[in-house]
Amino acid sequence: GIPGKKCGSIIFTAEELSNCRDNATMQLCANKLDKKDFFGKSDPFLVFYRSNEDGTFTICHKTEVIKNNLNPVWQPFTIPVRALCNGDYDRTVKVDVYDWDRDG
Ligand SMILES: *[C@@H]1O[C@H](CO)[C@@H](O)[C@H](O)[C@H]1NC(C)=O
Repeated sequence: GIPGKKCGSIIFTAEELSNCRDNATMQLCANKLDKKDFFGKSDPFLVFYRSNEDGTFTICHKTEVIKNNLNPVWQPFTIPVRALCNGDYDRTVKVDVYDWDRDG
């Protein structure tokens, strides 16, 4: 609302938080990942996304980076079920595998 300026808009979307108090503990590994680095192998890490009621995804967890390894075993971790799927055990969780680089 600044006179003479073009303003954008921000859309907020909210979802009722479940009262689920459970925690989920898991440990993941991967086998035969793609070699993504010119020198060396790959530096893989995992990103977990919760799916929202409107079909979008929100990042809820990142694992540590394991350097130069195509068969990584990540450390076990514990996450509130509310953060992972808002207490809904039937909901999709998306997991992406990324190759870490110094520049992103
Ligand atoms: C889940 O973890 C939180 C934080 O560590 C803890 O306070 C809570 O008691 C745990 N819940 C259950 C059901 O174990």
